[in-house]
Order: sequence, then structure tokens, then C-alpha cells
Amino acid sequence: MKMNPAVIFLLLVIVDYSASANTGVLYPYGAPLDKETMKADDGASSAIKATVPVFGKQYSSIYVNNNGLLSFDVLLNNTFIQRFPFADGTLLAPFWADVDNEISGNIYYRMSQDSSLITQNAIDLASYFPGISYTPKWVLVATWDKVAFYKSATKRVNTFQAVLSSDETMTFVMYNYAEIEWTTGTNQGGNSEGLSDGDGSIPALAGGNNGATVSYFEIPGSLTSAIINITTTSNVEVRGRWVFRVDQSKVISPNVTSNCPRQGQSLIGKYEDVPQN
Ligand SMILES: *[C@@H]1O[C@H](CO)[C@@H](O)[C@H](O)[C@H]1NC(C)=O
Ligand SMILES: *[C@@H]1O[C@H](CO)[C@@H](O)[C@H](O)[C@H]1NC(C)=O
Repeated sequence: MKMNPAVIFLLLVIVDYSASANTGVLYPYGAPLDKETMKADDGASSAIKATVPVFGKQYSSIYVNNNGLLSFDVLLNNTFIQRFPFADGTLLAPFWADVDNEISGNIYYRMSQDSSLITQNAIDLASYFPGISYTPKWVLVATWDKVAFYKSATKRVNTFQAVLSSDETMTFVMYNYAEIEWTTGTNQGGNSEGLSDGDGSIPALAGGNNGATVSYFEIPGSLTSAIINITTTSNVEVRGRWVFRVDQSKVISPNVTSNCPRQGQSLIGKYEDVPQN
């Protein structure tokens, strides 16, 4: 059978497109290392035991919630996406949006004391926060791999990760964005099909919130369509990576750029694309 040159061209474009995903930013994840949350709309992991100071308070468990966030001591699996600050809970959200991995995707997580992972995390954080002396006791890697949104009718999927670590005094979170193809689930007013499938009314929110009025941060582009480009931005000059120290009541940004969110403030715009290397 002879293949139409146009079809061959299209296949090459598709192959090239998937190869251009920013997957190099991700920490290792997946089977057989990791556990998975239940495949469900609004699902979550079971409680992951850990001593973890976040926003000035010590917590003893973490939940990986399917909708793109980590919560502390309480499940936040079924809360409507809303602007920070809001009173209902402490959370760290790499990409808070209405994920439904019954349609597509897996949500992996592992709480690890593996020495190579601890070393990788310590080296990364030392380069972003020069001057600190930090060796994590544990690292939690949570990965949303090719997840769809609620009521999606097409194949758009997102892949992103939160790497949380602590020495039980300091806590750091790293958000890694490999591929973002949608921003909004249909319950937030997003479109379920067509050209703007998975975009619209209330797009995803990336940041952190402690339930009080002062301790929260939002990554620029949050709650706007521009969050689709979070795979190309950074506060540590690594494309698709955002890093914060989160144990104190105010979030601490890295010493790498001046281009960082400040706490207690919704930031708009003001961030630069990081070229792919
Ligand atoms: C998520 O929340 C709902 C209630 O809003 C609950 O019925 C459900 O069991 C929860 N899912 C998990 C995985 O805990
Ligand atoms: C995302 O980035 C591309 C390339 O810079 C730009 O053309 C597009 O307008 C951006 N999208 C949004 C919604 O800001």
C-alpha cells in the first residue's frame, strides 16, 4: 500500500509534537516504584504519614488529590477551584483543575527515603537556594500523568508533578510541568469539545494556600488561559519548573530570579519564557 505524502507529513508532525513535551523536567515516576490513586473523578490517595511543616504549622499526613493538589491532614478532593486565599484548607497545588482520570491518565505517588532521590532533591534545592544547608528526610513525588478533565470529549491531557520534601524543619515544593494541553473542566465553565476544548471560564490555579489571609501564593497566569504556557516558565531558570520553600507562614522564593510570586498577592503577568536547552 502506498502512503499519501500528506499523511506521512502529518505523522511526522505528530511524532515531533509529542517529542517536544518538556518531559526532561520530571523526576522519575511510574510503575513499579509508585502507588496510584483510585481512578475516579474527584478521587484521592489514602493518608500518607509524614511530619511536614507547611505555612507555619506542623501536619502529620498528606493527601494526593486527583484534582491537582496536595492537602494536609484533610482530604480536599471535591472542592471547587477558587481564588486564594480561601479558608477551607492548607494546600499546595501544582495545577488545581477538574481532573478526571477515569477518562485518561494515572496519578502516581511515592513517599520515599531513597538515597539517590534525596541526593537529587538536595542538589537541586541547594542550587536554587544557595546558602541553605538542607538534606531532606523524605521526598514525596506525585505525578499526574496524561490526565484528562471532567467530561472531556477529546484527547487533551496534562502531565505535571509536585515534588515535596522536608527535613521536618524546612519544607520545599517543586512543581514540574511536562505537558499542559487543557486548563478548565466543564464544571468550571470549560468547553468540552471543539477548538477551545478544555479552556474557558475558570482556568487552573497553581500555587499554595494555608486558609488564612496572608499565606498564599499564585503562580503568574493562574486562573487565566495563559496557564496553558506554564510548561515554558520558571522561577529557577529551568523551563517548566517552579520551586518554593513553604514551611514558614510566608512562602520563600528562590534566589535565582527576581521574577517570583510574592505571598499575599495575586500576581499577574511578569514572568519570562525560559528557552529550551
Ligand atoms: C471524595 O469526596 C467525596 C465527597 O465529596 C467522597 O464521597 C469520596 O469518597 C471522596 N473520594 C476519596 C477517594 O476519598
Ligand atoms: C502561549 O504562548 C504562545 C507562544 O508564546 C502564545 O502565542 C500564546 O498566545 C500563549 N497563550 C496564552 C493563552 O497566553
